[in-house]
Amino acid sequence: MPQMYLTDQDKYSNTPTGEEVIAGVELANAKRKSKWYAYCDVAQSVTGLLLGLFLFCHMAFTSSIQLGKDVFWNLVAFTGGYPVDGEEHAWLHVVFVGAITILVIIHALMALRRFPTSYRMFHNMKSQYQFIAHRDTTLWIIQFVTAIVLTFMVFPHVTPMLLDPHAIGPNLSSVHTYHNGMLWTFIFLVATELHGMIGLYRLAVKWDVMAGNRAALRKIMYFLIVAMIACGSLTAWTYYSNGKALVESGEPIVKYEPVNNWWK
Ligand code: HEM
Repeated sequence: MPQMYLTDQDKYSNTPTGEEVIAGVELANAKRKSKWYAYCDVAQSVTGLLLGLFLFCHMAFTSSIQLGKDVFWNLVAFTGGYPVDGEEHAWLHVVFVGAITILVIIHALMALRRFPTSYRMFHNMKSQYQFIAHRDTTLWIIQFVTAIVLTFMVFPHVTPMLLDPHAIGPNLSSVHTYHNGMLWTFIFLVATELHGMIGLYRLAVKWDVMAGNRAALRKIMYFLIVAMIACGSLTAWTYYSNGKALVESGEPIVKYEPVNNWWK
């Protein structure tokens, strides 16, 4: 419902300062909104931050294959609790992948609030963007588009790991990448890194990291996007070529047996 004012004097009695608008304080006649909008906003930011930081761990984890199949095998074994009793526990992978999937779902549900719900809303957003072609709005549009791409690509990525956690490892993950193909993997990688790194930049601006120095933050963000896409492409290529070699060898494809087991 629109804001109701009793008199014109009442209506124009307070011109809020920028700070008042941002903090939402001391607005004359401001109607009390539900606190749930703020809770949803915090939930979206916190899950976004955790997922953004997870992307760096994910890159280190998957890229370990560049140092050899043994290194990746040992890391997967570690997260599967192998060092405890000399056995890999698939349920630990399910718990970990499941936790990340829940973060993704919460994040996506919270973000849905910002999606236009009618053509008119979409049209208004488009006109606003064309009117004020601000760089940060362009970044927001990129995040919006990559969010849609990711919604279609993340679940086919995590679901096989939840259903068959034993398949995470040098051989079977490689064959998986080979079957997905380089194009799918590259589109997924670019969408992930653009969405994640722009998201971290937006959080840094919002939470005034580095005194909100946008120019410096943007440079860091551009660097991270390029570095993550370069690193991820090399890693994806390694999985793809390993997978191709395994499939073309005609041998039965089995789980990798390490030459150098760190945990024995
Ligand atoms: C705990 C959850 C996750 C695990 C254990 C995991 C594991 C893996 C593994 C083993 C690969 C290598 C090949 C393959 O199997 O496809 C991979 C590739 C990839 N994953 Fe994940 N992933 C997880 C979650 C995510 C999420 C949430 C995203 C994106 C939002 C993501 C994005 C990617 C991308 C873009 C690639 C391909 C390029 C590359 O190797 O960097 N992953 N992941």
